[in-house]
Amino acid sequence: MEITKAVIPVAGWGTRSLPATKNVPKEMLPIFRKPIVQYIVEEGIAAGLKDVVFITNQNKTIIEDHFDRNFLLEQLLERAGKTAMLEEVRRVASLVNVIGVRQKEQLGLGHAVLTAREVCQNEPFAVMLGDDLMFGVQAGIGELLKAAKETGKAVVGVIEVPKSKVSRYGVIKGESIDSHTYRVTNLVEKPKPEEAPSNLAIIGRYVLLPEIFDILEGQRAGVGGEIQLTDALQGLADQDKLIAVRLAGQRFDAGDWVEYLTANIYFALQDEELRDDLVKRLQELLSCSS
Ligand code: G1P
Repeated sequence: MEITKAVIPVAGWGTRSLPATKNVPKEMLPIFRKPIVQYIVEEGIAAGLKDVVFITNQNKTIIEDHFDRNFLLEQLLERAGKTAMLEEVRRVASLVNVIGVRQKEQLGLGHAVLTAREVCQNEPFAVMLGDDLMFGVQAGIGELLKAAKETGKAVVGVIEVPKSKVSRYGVIKGESIDSHTYRVTNLVEKPKPEEAPSNLAIIGRYVLLPEIFDILEGQRAGVGGEIQLTDALQGLADQDKLIAVRLAGQRFDAGDWVEYLTANIYFALQDEELRDDLVKRLQELLSCSS
C-alpha cells in the first residue's frame, strides 16, 4: 500500500483563537519560531508523505504561500548576508508538493475530507488536523501509516482522555488487538461523558481508504449540524476495516490557549540560546503571580 498524500483541512474559522485569528489563519499562528501548519507538514514528511492537499478557502492563501518561494525576501536576505536564514526560508519552500482545493462551504470535517475526492481518487491517504500537534516517539502519523500498511485497513489515532473531557472528541469503542492497537467497532462524535463508549478519544490523525468517499457522499449531518468524519468512519468499522492506534508522546491542542502557550515554552526551552534567559524570566513571573 503506497500512501503519499496528506489531506490537511484548513478552511475552519478558528473561533477558539479569536481575536488573534480574525484575519490571520489559525494555522499560521506561530509556535516558537514556526507557524503551526509547518509542524504538521514536517510530521507528515518525516513519515514519508510527499504531497500536501490543503482544503482551503479564499482567506487562507498565505498558508500555501508559506510553502512557496519568496524571491524578494530571498534577495534581501542574500544581500544582508543572512545565509542561515536564507537557507531556512528556501528549505521551507522545498518541503512538499502543495495542492490547494477550495472548500466552498464549511459543512464539517467529513465534508472537508470529501472535498479531496478528485485529488485522492483511488489511493489511501492521510488526514492531519492542524489543532493537534504531536511530538516524540510513537507520536504521530508515521505510526498510523505503519499500521495501515501492515493491515490494509483504515486507522485512527487515539489517546486516553479523562472521562470529563470526552465530549470534545470523537470516541471509539474497540477490542484490543495488542497493547496499543484496537479493532474499532463503534464511534460516537462528542458524546456526553455518561454515554461515551470508552475514554479513547480520536486525535487529528487518520489514514483513510478511498471507499470513505462513497460513505461521505451519503453522510447526513450529525452533531452540530455538521457532516462528521467520525460518523462516516462507522461505515468502515461495520465492515471490519478500521483500527485504532493509541499514540504516545507529547500532544498539544493548539486551539486551547493554555496548551498553545505551553507548546511555545516547550520548544523555546529546547533552544540552548534562549533556555537560561527564558527560565529566569518565567521564574520571575511565577514568583510575582503567586
Ligand atoms: C474533530 C473531530 C473529532 C476529533 C477532533 C480531534 O473535532 O470531529 O472526532 O476527536 O477533531 O481534534 P473538532 O475538534 O474539529 O471539533
